[in-house]
Amino acid sequence: MNKSFKMIIPQKEHIHGIYEIEKLCFEHPQSEQSLLNDLNGNSVFFCCVCENGKVVGYINADTVLDEVYVINVCVHPHYRRQGIGERLVKALRDYCRDNSFAFVTLEVRQSNTAAISLYRKLGFEKAGLRKNFYTHPTEDADIMTLYFKR
Ligand SMILES: CC(C)(COP(=O)(O)OP(=O)(O)OC[C@H]1O[C@@H](n2cnc3c(N)ncnc32)[C@H](O)[C@@H]1OP(=O)(O)O)[C@@H](O)C(=O)NCCC(=O)NCCS
Repeated sequence: MNKSFKMIIPQKEHIHGIYEIEKLCFEHPQSEQSLLNDLNGNSVFFCCVCENGKVVGYINADTVLDEVYVINVCVHPHYRRQGIGERLVKALRDYCRDNSFAFVTLEVRQSNTAAISLYRKLGFEKAGLRKNFYTHPTEDADIMTLYFKR
């Protein structure tokens, strides 16, 4: 990842930039209020990458007991293929491993080859399928999971 990119824990002032990326990346973006709630304690892990103070990508995740569920990971379309997504997922992976979580898991559209390739590269395996999980367009989700202990 380029040295001008900095990974930080987002503050309130970064939420609008994160929301702008959500809108560019997803049909159903999280609201700014929901992102703010995540920041104020609903997410156990929240990280973003900035260039000169501007948010260019982020990841957040939730936990239930020793299980970690990725809420979202996305990179601004103009900043893709520069290692930012990989850096974000690696940061979450390292956090989970260092804090003795059992696994980290997520859902991904079966057509999302970029994300599936990223998760596979970092050791996630297909663990199941959710029929018609997504709408607009309707599509199945692969469940992808990285286990730390079995
Ligand atoms: C998926 C996403 C986060 C990847 O971010 P990125 O910063 O472009 O990814 P990186 O540059 O770190 O790439 C890391 C790896 O991901 C995979 N990858 C990324 N983009 C890819 C593409 N367009 N096609 C194929 N593989 C791709 C590759 O395995 C790549 O490793 P390599 O460079 O050794 O080939 C980004 O495409 C994105 O924000 N997509 C829209 C939101 C989304 O779909 N999020 C996932 C929801 S489950």
